Parts: sequence; C-alpha cells; structure tokens
Amino acid sequence: MWDVLPVTQKSFGEAARVLAWAFLDEPVSLAIYKGFGPEKRLRNLTADFASEMEVCLRCGNPLQVCEDGKVVAAAVIYQPGAYPLSWIEQTRILIKSILGHDFYDIRPSLKWLAEIDKIHPQEAHYYLEYLGAAPEYQGRGLGSAILHSLTAKADEENKGCYLETASPRNVPLYQRHGFTVIAEKSIIGLKAWFMWRPARGGGAQA
Ligand SMILES: CC(C)(COP(=O)(O)OP(=O)(O)OC[C@H]1O[C@@H](n2cnc3c(N)ncnc32)[C@H](O)[C@@H]1OP(=O)(O)O)[C@@H](O)C(=O)NCCC(=O)NCCS
Repeated sequence: MWDVLPVTQKSFGEAARVLAWAFLDEPVSLAIYKGFGPEKRLRNLTADFASEMEVCLRCGNPLQVCEDGKVVAAAVIYQPGAYPLSWIEQTRILIKSILGHDFYDIRPSLKWLAEIDKIHPQEAHYYLEYLGAAPEYQGRGLGSAILHSLTAKADEENKGCYLETASPRNVPLYQRHGFTVIAEKSIIGLKAWFMWRPARGGGAQA
C-alpha cells in the first residue's frame, strides 16, 4: 500500500523533521533532553536528526514513505559493514548536533551510545538505527512498510538485521517482522531491548 523509497538530497531535511516529531516523547529523547519542554526538545531533535540523516545519506541507506509528496515516515539504516561509522563521521555528527543545540548535559547521551555499542553485533547486518512515523500517521502501517522493505532486502542478500529500542510497545512490532530479543539492559534509567533478525540461512547472534 505504501511506497518505500530512498531518502534523497532534496528530502533529507524533511525526513529528519519527521523523525524529530516521531521521537518527541520517545523515552531516550525524554531522558537526554530532561527538563526541556516540547518545543525546545523538537528543535534539538531536529538538529540531531538532520546531522544523522545527512551522514546516513552519504554512508547508509535511509528510507522514507511519502504521501502526496510529503515525507510521513523515515528510517536511518546502515547496510552491512557501514556501522560503526568512521571517527570522522561520528565527530561530524557530534559537532553538527552541538552547534545546532541549546545547552544541555551531554553525558547521558554519551553514556547511552557507549552502552548500546557494547552490545552491537559483530556479524555483518543491516542496522536500523532510527525508525519513525509522523505522529498523525502512526498506527497506519508506515513503520511496517519500512520494516518489510528492509527485511526483504536483507533476505535477498542473506544478511541479518539489528536494532535496539527503549519503547516496550515497539517490541511486538519488531517481533512480527522476525526480530527476537537477544539482550535487555538498563541504561540511564531506561530499559532497552536489543533485537536481532537472523539471515535467512540462520546466522550467528550478538
Ligand atoms: C514505532 C513506529 C515507527 C511504528 O510505526 P507505525 O507506522 O506507527 O506502526 P504500524 O502501523 O506499522 O504498526 C503498529 C504497531 O506499531 C507499534 N507502535 C509503537 N508505537 C506506536 C504508536 N505511537 N502508534 C501506533 N503503533 C505504535 C505497536 O506495536 C503497533 O501495534 P499495536 O497497535 O498492535 O500495538 C511509530 O509508531 C513511531 O514513530 N513511534 C514513535 C517513535 C518510535 O518509537 N520509534 C521507534 C524507536 S525504536
């Protein structure tokens, strides 16, 4: 029903704004931007996702869904071998985010990233780093359409897929797309689930 297409140079800013809206009340965003109201959180998340999307456009395979020419869902995805990003790209993201930010305590964010990276699988896989649908479009199958497109490509190439989430409601969604929980961990006061979808041939785990 929904067409899933690559994010383009023209659309990446819009895709980033959709992700910022989607993640406005997501647990990690709330923990990192503790004390910020919705407007300020949105501004900072937009800066974060703009730099994430820009890097993903260069090094990964970001996807989007549009309705009437307007981006309504998007995902930051890295193909096997592209993640972890080089130090140059990581520094670029950090600097761009900091420049576009209001002052905040960056330590929870760095702690979150360091802890999730410890669990990140070594085996070649597609990494779904961020997935979001515009709030008014949630629950209409957009996230599933992107997940379907991602997993179909991974199956074609016989590759695994991996993601993490701190939203319990998302766990069954990912399970429906073939992911299973391979680890659970408490980080910065949040419970996180680490999920793996094996390559069609089986594949190893984290
Ligand atoms: C999670 C998300 C990408 C799913 O996309 P979607 O298009 O809303 O989901 P679909 O319509 O394909 O599937 C619905 C399922 O998504 C999950 N879901 C999570 N948050 C949801 C929300 N706010 N509204 C509707 N479904 C949601 C549920 O498992 C739901 O199934 P259920 O109705 O049986 O509980 C989207 O809801 C979203 O952007 N949420 C906020 C940001 C977020 O949590 N991103 C993922 C971080 S890992």
